[in-house]
Amino acid sequence: MRLNAYLARAGIASRRKSDDLIKAGRVLVNGEPGQLNTFVEKTDRVEVDGREVAAQQLAIILLHKPVGHVTTASDPHGRRTVVDIVPSNPRVVPVGRLDVDTTGALLLTNDGALAHTLAHPKYGVEKTYVAEVDGELTNEVLKQLRTGIELDDGPTAPAKARLLGRNRIELTIHEGRNHQVKRMLEAVGLPVRRLHRSGYAGLTLEGLEPGQWRKLEPFEVRRLRRERSPE
Ligand code: URA
Repeated sequence: MRLNAYLARAGIASRRKSDDLIKAGRVLVNGEPGQLNTFVEKTDRVEVDGREVAAQQLAIILLHKPVGHVTTASDPHGRRTVVDIVPSNPRVVPVGRLDVDTTGALLLTNDGALAHTLAHPKYGVEKTYVAEVDGELTNEVLKQLRTGIELDDGPTAPAKARLLGRNRIELTIHEGRNHQVKRMLEAVGLPVRRLHRSGYAGLTLEGLEPGQWRKLEPFEVRRLRRERSPE
């Protein structure tokens, strides 16, 4: 893997900050100064400021995101982030985004390649949301959601839509545009009051209260990788 990714995974610094360390000549690979395009194998010896760096295990965490935490690794406004909730070693970052007032299933990982694949529209990860709306859901609205909604950044793909009550709906989508569910429902005249992601890539929140997290089981990690490995 690339040297900056290796340093990030080892918890030394973010990839960008690792690039700064590399450019400053503070990183040696097998005794030679590392370059931005240096690739590192398991057997290579990497040192930062003369201290050997131990590669870290891959970690994939499923968090039941509570309301009020922003989905970033660090927030310039000092708000609480999802990263504050989970263990800091190894350092993990969120895969994709949930709005600050959205609750539900969120993956965090230090596996950059997996995070990239999961977030890539090509792989069409299935995300299931439960939305509570202001107003009444009708069959006509369900039909529109199942057909696709015209948004200002283009039409959405057909969603799976299931009525849960007069103003509660379950929506399953494969895209991941900004504020997509809120915008889809707003577009049919139903502003969202509460939004919860109940499922992500086949994972549910069974056994996790808001604010709780767990490591994925090896079989779950294998399934995520298998289903999304490029041909
Ligand atoms: N769609 C939204 O509008 N908000 C989210 O947090 C996730 C999906």
